[in-house]
Amino acid sequence: MTWSVGAGLDGKGVIVTGAAGGIGRAVAEAFAQTGAKVMAVDLDQAKVDEVVAGLAGSGHIGVAANLGDLAGHAGLVAQARAAFGNLYVLAHTAAVLRRRKSLDEVTEEDWDFQNDINVKATFFLCRTVANAMVEQGNGGRIILFSSQGWWTGGFGGSLPYAATKGGVTTMSRGLARTYGPHRITVNCISPGQIHTPMLLTDLPTEVYENMKKQTPLGYVGEPADCAGPVVFLASDHAAYITGSTINVSGGFLMY
Ligand SMILES: NC(=O)c1ccc[n+]([C@@H]2O[C@H](COP(=O)([O-])OP(=O)(O)OC[C@H]3O[C@@H](n4cnc5c(N)ncnc54)[C@H](O)[C@@H]3O)[C@@H](O)[C@H]2O)c1
Repeated sequence: MTWSVGAGLDGKGVIVTGAAGGIGRAVAEAFAQTGAKVMAVDLDQAKVDEVVAGLAGSGHIGVAANLGDLAGHAGLVAQARAAFGNLYVLAHTAAVLRRRKSLDEVTEEDWDFQNDINVKATFFLCRTVANAMVEQGNGGRIILFSSQGWWTGGFGGSLPYAATKGGVTTMSRGLARTYGPHRITVNCISPGQIHTPMLLTDLPTEVYENMKKQTPLGYVGEPADCAGPVVFLASDHAAYITGSTINVSGGFLMY
């Protein structure tokens, strides 16, 4: 075995969702540097095109899709297989957060919106991807994004988002059990505070400053801090890791 963080990924087909977002973009860039072929998926075509234009290597594609449209999942997977000849990795970073000031401000629509994208779409996308991997017969890697809220339960108006991330972690374990016999691993990354549009939206400055103080490593993480663990989980070196939730929080929480 050659020891390198991206071992085994050269030429492999990878779908990165949320690829125009903070973490998704860093994940797409990291995969491209391993020699993998990236399908960058996000809501806006111009934005995914821009991401793809910045990737190392060639043969990557950008696809605009709303993952809340479950009927579109099969087409995405088919497009990746047709473009790359195989689909080996799903790195699913796309998610939504509605941070309300208090629990009483949360509406039913907030609840449904976050659940539809973060939980429901994740389940159906994973199932479609895993079925394609089973058909290919070469195993695969599914990497989902949870959050520290999975562990803490969130607080006040962020509780519904935290609950969706609990759903993601739980789901990852059930998927890992279901697809393990096909050598498909399913793991989660649980980021702490990472400097992205999602973190910064509606976030008071003093809360941001407090985050730094409460983080033993002393800074708010960068998207690249999450990209390395994602590539590792997709690599040959992580072949025996499944059902894990990896804590990438600078020590903000320790578990
Ligand atoms: N940034 C943090 O501090 C933090 C902390 C914990 C967990 N996370 C998780 O990490 C992941 C990435 O977060 P981020 O900070 O990069 O967020 P981000 O908002 O920067 O990026 C998310 C991307 O997902 C896309 N997206 C949203 N809904 C979509 C849909 N229906 N279809 C297709 N694309 C859609 C958005 O357009 C956006 O580009 C998310 O799952 C998030 O919950 C982030």
